[in-house]
Amino acid sequence: MSTAAPTATNALQVTDPRTGKQYSLPIQDGAIRAADLRQIKTGPEDFGLMAYDPAFLNTASCRSKITYIDGDKGVLEYRGYPIDELAEKSTHLEVAYLLLHGELPSKAQLAQWTHDVTYHTIVHANVGKLIEAFRYDAHPMGVLQSAVAALSTFYPDARDIKSPENRRLQMLRLIAKMPTIAAMAFRHRLGLPFVQPNNDLSYTGNFLSMLFRMTEAKYTPNPVIERALDVLFILHADHEQNCSTNAMRAVGSSHTDPFSAVSASIGALYGPLHGGANEEVLRMLAEIGSVKNIPDVIKQVKEGKRLLMGFGHRVYKNFDPRAKIIKKLAYEVFEVTGKNPLLDIAVELEKIALEDEYFVKRKLYPNVDFYSGLIYQALGFPFEMFTVLFAIPRTAGWLSQWEEMLNDGEQKIARPRQLFMGPAHRSYVEMARR
Ligand code: SDX
Repeated sequence: MSTAAPTATNALQVTDPRTGKQYSLPIQDGAIRAADLRQIKTGPEDFGLMAYDPAFLNTASCRSKITYIDGDKGVLEYRGYPIDELAEKSTHLEVAYLLLHGELPSKAQLAQWTHDVTYHTIVHANVGKLIEAFRYDAHPMGVLQSAVAALSTFYPDARDIKSPENRRLQMLRLIAKMPTIAAMAFRHRLGLPFVQPNNDLSYTGNFLSMLFRMTEAKYTPNPVIERALDVLFILHADHEQNCSTNAMRAVGSSHTDPFSAVSASIGALYGPLHGGANEEVLRMLAEIGSVKNIPDVIKQVKEGKRLLMGFGHRVYKNFDPRAKIIKKLAYEVFEVTGKNPLLDIAVELEKIALEDEYFVKRKLYPNVDFYSGLIYQALGFPFEMFTVLFAIPRTAGWLSQWEEMLNDGEQKIARPRQLFMGPAHRSYVEMARR
C-alpha cells in the first residue's frame, strides 16, 4: 500500500457512473491493488467492485525478485543475469543456487552446494518398488508426479515449512532426487535395472549415467552431450509466473509440504499447452513427416483445426530467447549424435510460419519447446521423457518461487473470488414434481 498521499501522478482517479462518486486508486510499481476496487460500491449492501481476469491475463499475483522477462524485447534474466550469459558461462547447479539464494555462489559455496546435492541423490528403496508397480508403458510424467508426491510420506518433517533450515534440506532433496526418479522412470519403461547415483560425476553426468549405464563398471558421459543437457537445464530453470509456478505458489500457499506442491506443479507442467508441448512438437513433426506436407498443416492451423505446437507464448510477443539458444545447441549436439532428420521439417516450418500473416498478426514465434525435443530425441529419449527433462531443472525455479511466496508478508492462502452466474435461490423439488 503506497504511503504517499495519492496525487494525480501516482493515483488513478475514477468516477463511478452509478453513483457519481469519485475514487483515487494509488498506483505503485505500475499497478493498482485489486483490493482497492472493493471500496467502489453502489450502497452499503454492495460487495464492491472486483477485477475480473480469467487466466490472469493482466493480473500480477506477487512481487518477485527472481526472474525478469520482457516479452517485447525477448529478454529473460535470472536474478538480473541474462539467460544467454548464464547458458554460456554457468552450470545448472550454479544457476539453481542463484535462483534459490539470489546471488552467484563463491567457489566455496558452490563446492558445498554441489557436495550437498550430490549426497542427496539416492532415494528410499521403496520408491523403486512404487515405480516398479507401474505398467511398463506408464507415462514418465505420471510416474514422476506420483513418486515426488510419495516422497512427502518418506520425509514427514518436510511439513515444517516455517523452518528455513528444514526448507533448505527439503529443497536439496528435491533438486537432488528429481534426476534419480526420472532415470528410474526411464529404466522401468525399458525393463532395465535401476542404476545407483555415481557421486564422482557432475549433476548432469550422473543423470546420464543413471539413464544409460549398462554393463560397464563406470559410465563416462560424452562431454558434448553432458554440457548440452546442462545448458538445456539452465534454460528451463525458471520463467516467472508460468502455469506450473502459479500452481506451486497456489498449492504452497496452503502451507503444505514442498513435495506435495512440486507434485502439483509437475501435473501443471504435464499439460500440452505448457511443458507437455515439447513432446507434442515431436509428434507433430513426425506426423508431418516431410517438408512437402507442411502447407497442409499450416492450412489446418489457420482453419483453427489445430495448434502449431512449440509456437506462441503468453509473454513473448517477439521471440523466446531460449528458443534461439536451443536451436544453435541442436546443431552442436547433432555433430555428435548425427542430425535429427526432423530438423529440416522444423526449420522449414519455422521459416514458413514466420512469413505467414496468420502467425505474424498473432505474434506467434517458436518458444522454448519448439527445438528442445529434437535434441532430446537425438540423445535417445522417447517422446514421453521430454517433459520430464523440463521438470527436472524447473524444480529449482518452483522451489525459489515457493520460498519467496512463504517469505512474502503480503501473501496469504490463494483463494480467488468469482462472478456467480448460476441460478438464483430456489427450493428443493420433490421427485414427483420434476
Ligand atoms: C511453455 O508461461 C510460460 O512462461 C511457459 C513456459 C515456461 O518456461 O514456463 O515458457 C513454457 O509452456 C511454453 C509454451 C508451450 N506451449 C505450446 O507451444 C503450445 C502451443 N501454444 C499455444 O497453446 C499458446 O501459444 C500458448 C498456450 C503458449 C499461449 O496461449 P495464450 O497466451 O493464451 O494465447 P491465445 O491462446 O490467446 O492465442 C492468441 C491467438 C489465438 O488466435 P485467435 O483466437 O486470436 O484467432 O493466437 C492463436 C490462438 O488461437 N494461437 C495459436 C497458437 N498459439 C496461439 N494458433 C496456432 N498455433 C499456436 N501454437
